[in-house]
Amino acid sequence: MQKRNIKTNVRLILFPLFLCLLLLLIQKWVNYEIDKPSRRCGCICVDTGKGQCETRCGIEYSTLKQGFFCSIPHPTEWPLLLQVPAQQFRAVRTSDHLVSSYGDLPGDSCKKTGSCPVTMLITGNNQTFGQSVAGNMFSKPFNNINSSDSLYNLADNALGSETETRFDNVLDAAFLLNAPIDFLQPQCPSNFRFSLAFRLGSDTLEKDVRCSQVVQLWRNSSSEINDVLYRGYRKGNSERKINEILAAYDFVNSNDNLFNVTVWYNSTYKNDKGSQPISLTRLPRSINLVSNAYLQLLLGPTARMVFEFVKEMPKPETKLRLDFSSLLGPLFYTWVIVQLFPVTLTYLVYEKEHRLRIMMKMHGLGDGPYWMISYAYFLAISSVYMLCFVIFGSAIGLNFFRLNDYSIQFVFYFLYINLQICLAFLVADWFSSVKTATVVGYMMVFGTGLLGGFLFQLFLQDSSFPKAWIIAMELFPGFSLYRGLYEFSQYAFNGNYMGSDGMRWNDLNNSNNGMREVLIIIAVEWLVVLCVAYYADQVASSGKNPLFFLRKKPKNLQSSFRKPSLRRQGSKVFVQMEKIDVDQEREKVEQLLLESSTSHSIICNNLKKIYPSRDGNPEKFAVRELSLALPEGECFGMLGPNGAGKTSFINMMIGLVKPSSGTAYVQGLDIRTDMDRIYTSMGVCPQHDLLWDMLTGREHLLFYGRLKNLKGAALTQAVEESLKSVNLFHGGVADKQSRKYSGGMKRRLSVAISLIGDPKVVYMDEPSTGLDPASRNMLWDVVKRAKQNRAIILTTHSMEEAEHLCDRLGIFVDGRLQCVGNPNELKARYGGSYVFTMTTSQIHEEEVENLVNQLSPNATKVYQISGTQKFELPKDEIRIADVFEAVENAKSRFTVQAWGLADTTLEDVFIRVARGAQADSTLS
Ligand SMILES: *[C@@H]1O[C@H](CO)[C@@H](O)[C@H](O)[C@H]1NC(C)=O
Ligand SMILES: *[C@@H]1O[C@H](CO)[C@@H](O)[C@H](O)[C@H]1NC(C)=O
Ligand SMILES: *[C@@H]1O[C@H](CO)[C@@H](O)[C@H](O)[C@H]1NC(C)=O
Ligand SMILES: *[C@@H]1O[C@H](CO)[C@@H](O)[C@H](O)[C@H]1NC(C)=O
Ligand SMILES: *[C@@H]1O[C@H](CO)[C@@H](O)[C@H](O)[C@H]1NC(C)=O
Ligand SMILES: *[C@@H]1O[C@H](CO)[C@@H](O)[C@H](O)[C@H]1NC(C)=O
Repeated sequence: MQKRNIKTNVRLILFPLFLCLLLLLIQKWVNYEIDKPSRRCGCICVDTGKGQCETRCGIEYSTLKQGFFCSIPHPTEWPLLLQVPAQQFRAVRTSDHLVSSYGDLPGDSCKKTGSCPVTMLITGNNQTFGQSVAGNMFSKPFNNINSSDSLYNLADNALGSETETRFDNVLDAAFLLNAPIDFLQPQCPSNFRFSLAFRLGSDTLEKDVRCSQVVQLWRNSSSEINDVLYRGYRKGNSERKINEILAAYDFVNSNDNLFNVTVWYNSTYKNDKGSQPISLTRLPRSINLVSNAYLQLLLGPTARMVFEFVKEMPKPETKLRLDFSSLLGPLFYTWVIVQLFPVTLTYLVYEKEHRLRIMMKMHGLGDGPYWMISYAYFLAISSVYMLCFVIFGSAIGLNFFRLNDYSIQFVFYFLYINLQICLAFLVADWFSSVKTATVVGYMMVFGTGLLGGFLFQLFLQDSSFPKAWIIAMELFPGFSLYRGLYEFSQYAFNGNYMGSDGMRWNDLNNSNNGMREVLIIIAVEWLVVLCVAYYADQVASSGKNPLFFLRKKPKNLQSSFRKPSLRRQGSKVFVQMEKIDVDQEREKVEQLLLESSTSHSIICNNLKKIYPSRDGNPEKFAVRELSLALPEGECFGMLGPNGAGKTSFINMMIGLVKPSSGTAYVQGLDIRTDMDRIYTSMGVCPQHDLLWDMLTGREHLLFYGRLKNLKGAALTQAVEESLKSVNLFHGGVADKQSRKYSGGMKRRLSVAISLIGDPKVVYMDEPSTGLDPASRNMLWDVVKRAKQNRAIILTTHSMEEAEHLCDRLGIFVDGRLQCVGNPNELKARYGGSYVFTMTTSQIHEEEVENLVNQLSPNATKVYQISGTQKFELPKDEIRIADVFEAVENAKSRFTVQAWGLADTTLEDVFIRVARGAQADSTLS
């Protein structure tokens, strides 16, 4: 069947490949967009003189942004700078009463000329001490700077910049952007301006240096400094409130023997991305400045504590790597994996909807093997699917698969597909139609993905969301899948970004990694769902009581034999004399049960089926006290009007429903307890053909033959014979898919299926309905040949068929056998008359009547119409020769246009019995 389904299966497997490719395309596109020159280490074309140009790349040809990505084999050394507030934000005297209450701040007129000094605040327990330390901070005069001395000499000086830092310390923005370097001095000489040369990579750059004045102001306590800083924060657009300072120092209890200082600095100056504080290159200078000043206070002006530069570690060229596919992954991969769910579900529901499951069961496929085979099959197809998915994903280079440990992925996917298959088994019990199952299945697929992506992921990312709730949500298998994929994607994304590995087993220990819980949840759910699904299936498929395992086994056979025979005594009163044959059958059954012989293939003992009252309708007696014994080699025909209980009877015999009381023995096995063993020697041709659309006739027979334990050459031979016998062998019919068969061919195939493997007992429910006369005759031949060494129970509405095939007939009305016997007996018993018809002109009608009365005084006229009359003549009163003689006589007296004498047909018997029984039941 799967071979037939190859297209569907290929499509199924191509789906993840398609999604992977889509992801890859998205990823390529995003990478292409990201990898624009502006995000790559800068290059320029240097003219080599011969009209050619040589491309040189490096940090010196890059903008600040590009430089970040360059390779840095020899990092530049950067002098340490102070963060100087921008000119327009510097603290001045303003109308703000608290700030301006300090008269020592510079006046705000400097803002207009752009020459405001920067302010530094100082406090401490000993003002004399504090001010003398502070006085040493900017004492070094400017003329010590030698412009050709590059940056090294700057280490001794207090330099600053208004430029904020970016990214990291590979490049100091202060040296690359236009703003000049500030040389901080208590007094600025006029016309102070020079430029400084320094090397960057292989290039020499020039940088302007200007002088900025610093005023150091004493405050009585640190809280006063705090007040000023607090008010100085850039708020709104009102400039008067902006009072930024360079830095502030609290010398606390410092003295000649103790240096205990607190530094205020502004860490809000951050880089572009807002992740690292600036201070890595800006803070150290403020500390070195005050330490140096303290040292000089103690040891004199020649003492120096030098902090020359900071230098980044060397690094290779980097690229902006965003593994976009990993971010989108969870949504896509959830779809890919959950897609297996509707596929599994549809297969299961298909077999249920088309009742193939029951059909297989009736031919001997037990529940256990069915489960194991189906489970193994789905596991195999899911595994292949996932394997293709992972291999393909890895092959095209998706980091999601490549970076994470394959063994974790294997365990995760393996557990999940198992859980999913169990779920499909469980859910399949609720559906009876493939269409609904498909629709619901695919809604699950997309719903799970979208809910996971747009709802569940938000909860995952929200660190304030309670963990317990997340775990509760993960109890829903779709979400646990999503969580697992999400973790994979996070690890893959970070691994790719940092150039490291994805998830490893060690990472499961990490408390932020939800993988461990997910694995546990999935594994536990798998076991639980497996048990529940198997249990639910037992309840649903075999009609067992939901608490079947609590029940005791039925009592042993001996006691169940006795009970009905005692009851019989009471009910005998109601058995009418007419039904003496039925009664005989009952006695025969009891006799047989006592002998416990197995010469009879089927023995039904007082079989009863009562459907309980429902929706206010009374109980329905479908089968009442049926006793029947069928020897091997007999074909028993069940006739009866619609609704007489024939199908209920057959359903009981084939194990679809349990009898309400009484039982039947098939080959000596009780249908209540040994159905599984009975199935191996039973064949069923159901009323409606139960066939797989996709399989050919031959394959059906091969399959059911194998179920019946046929193997190898015996199987092939049996199948071939079977096909020949139902005339499906020639012209390639056997190898056509059954959906292309006509109704008659399907019917014949069903019969062939019921007969394959030499079952001892065969049930055929109206085998020839819908067949043309030629096919029907062929079918009859098959059945006739087949009945030689088995017992067949056949229901039919065709009297011709019953007469042709059946050794005995039972007419079944209102749940009860009305009569049992071979067709001729029945005809003799119930239709004990001939039908005599004669057509004359109307004048002679009376003469005909007289003639008939002479033949038999008890004759009855059935009808009379314009000269044609029909009579029933009791068989025991006439001889056929007399009739012929009388007709010859009559012919000599008047014109006989036509005449006929016929035996009663079975149809007459049937109608009579049915009518009689219904009359009885209405009387009673
Ligand atoms: C304050 O510091 C100065 C200089 O270091 C020192 O001479 C003086 O004794 C100190 N005053 C107190 C109260 O410690
Ligand atoms: C500057 O340094 C160079 C070499 O280091 C030296 O030749 C020159 O005299 C120095 N100039 C001053 C003003 O110190
Ligand atoms: C700080 O202390 C000095 C001397 O003790 C005093 O003159 C001055 O008013 C104080 N300043 C403030 C703002 O309290
Ligand atoms: C600290 O730096 C931020 C960012 O440049 C600035 O907005 C703020 O006004 C500064 N605060 C002070 C007290 O200087
Ligand atoms: C240094 O100053 C802090 C207050 O800023 C104080 O708590 C600490 O005791 C001082 N340390 C010494 C060694 O005096
Ligand atoms: C995981 O955590 C447990 C307990 O916290 C610790 O004993 C164990 O060594 C850890 N394993 C790894 C691989 O880190």
